[in-house]
Amino acid sequence: MSDIAKLQIGDESYEFPLIKGTENEVAINIKTLRGVSGGVITIDPGYKNTGSCESAITFLDGEKGILRYRGYSIEDLAEKADFLEVAYALIFGDLPNKEQLDKFHDDIKSNSIVDEDVKKIIDAFPKNAHPMGVLSSLTSALVAFNPSSVNVDSEEEMYNSIVRIMGKFPVLVAWAMRKTQGLPLNYGSKSLGYVENIMKMMFEKPNEEYEINPIIKDALDKLLILHADHEQNCSTSTVRIVGSSHAGLFASLSAGISALWGPLHGGANQAVLEMLEAIKEDGGDTKKYMAKAKDKSDPFRLMGFGHRVYKNFDPRATIIKVAANEVLNDLGIEDPILDIARGLEQEALNDEYFVKRKLYPNVDFYSGIIYRAMGIPVEMFTVMFALGRLPGWIAQWKEMRENKEPIGRPRQVYTGENLKEFKDINKR
Ligand code: CMC
Repeated sequence: MSDIAKLQIGDESYEFPLIKGTENEVAINIKTLRGVSGGVITIDPGYKNTGSCESAITFLDGEKGILRYRGYSIEDLAEKADFLEVAYALIFGDLPNKEQLDKFHDDIKSNSIVDEDVKKIIDAFPKNAHPMGVLSSLTSALVAFNPSSVNVDSEEEMYNSIVRIMGKFPVLVAWAMRKTQGLPLNYGSKSLGYVENIMKMMFEKPNEEYEINPIIKDALDKLLILHADHEQNCSTSTVRIVGSSHAGLFASLSAGISALWGPLHGGANQAVLEMLEAIKEDGGDTKKYMAKAKDKSDPFRLMGFGHRVYKNFDPRATIIKVAANEVLNDLGIEDPILDIARGLEQEALNDEYFVKRKLYPNVDFYSGIIYRAMGIPVEMFTVMFALGRLPGWIAQWKEMRENKEPIGRPRQVYTGENLKEFKDINKR
């Protein structure tokens, strides 16, 4: 293939260089288009064909169902690594050796104290506030307690801000949940692993010793790894674009949390479980809901199905489905919701509407079932997604700043009124 793309606009022809990624993805570099063409731009709502950056963090091939972080397959990472190792690899470029991992963990632990005044902010929220709203606000509030921007030319400052947020974020997550349950806002223990510590902070009751259940710990580790990064999705692009104005890391993350909250993105895991519950309450008639999902006059969508990029299968969903079965079996839980999920999946996989549109179960179709088995309340599901996605957001923000990317500022095609005469208020 030639390394030039040719574009004909009217009688004029322009040439643009092609960029090739390490996995042979090809992009037309239109950086100079507007300048050379006298103002022509491209338009691509939802950015379905638009690359916003070059990135060396995550590779995904939606046609083949491939997902890799820093070159490692998601299957290998979910099976063999733990969440902190994966976080390190995403943020710093490769899996750590023992010494690097220990140092990373020690630095995170020594930065995990959250200012006591943050508790006053939590106190001011109503108990029924959605924990995603609380988490986004608290992450933003951290700016007030910590330096708001980071000197990206200082490796030390970058590292400090990363370990600071890796330490404090799980505390905020646990506190957001404990607030809804009226439990005291606690701390974990420095002697525990990163994920074990999260569990202790979330689940420990004030009047009993907390014991880590290894089945739940392994499942949580896996879920966090599967959610850790997913290249330029809605929340990650938000983090990068907010950061591109040189807003600080915590402010950028707070914006990413808000983007993740929506039911078409991270909020889908909560929406899936609510949908499965509703189907159960309604007598378990999956066919009725399949028909609703296909009816164009009905806004209902089969939550947990479909993906902007995966048009074959979502490799994370394959891993999670097996994990959901294992966790429920190991914990001896029989959940009728799982049967409804399996039934819906089978019907959708054999239904022409879903097959034709390449709609397969995504990562969130089964994750809520595991979270529920772990005793995590449904409003916390998207918060758990955010906890997993934290290292991915950090890595993407860091890469964006290190690459000195320009401020994100899309163009538009204006479709409003042409110049009009101003009328005095009495004459309108
Ligand atoms: N149920 C029924 N129809 C669907 C669904 C669904 N879940 N998803 C897509 N479609 C149809 C859609 O109506 C359209 O049909 P037509 O071509 O006849 O107009 C076609 O499939 C293409 O859909 P689209 O909305 O143009 O596709 P998209 O790439 O813009 O949207 C999506 C991707 C994930 C937003 C969408 O599939 C969806 O809303 N799924 C349900 C929400 C969900 O599970 N989101 C979690 C995504 S995975 C977690 C994450 O990383 O965020």
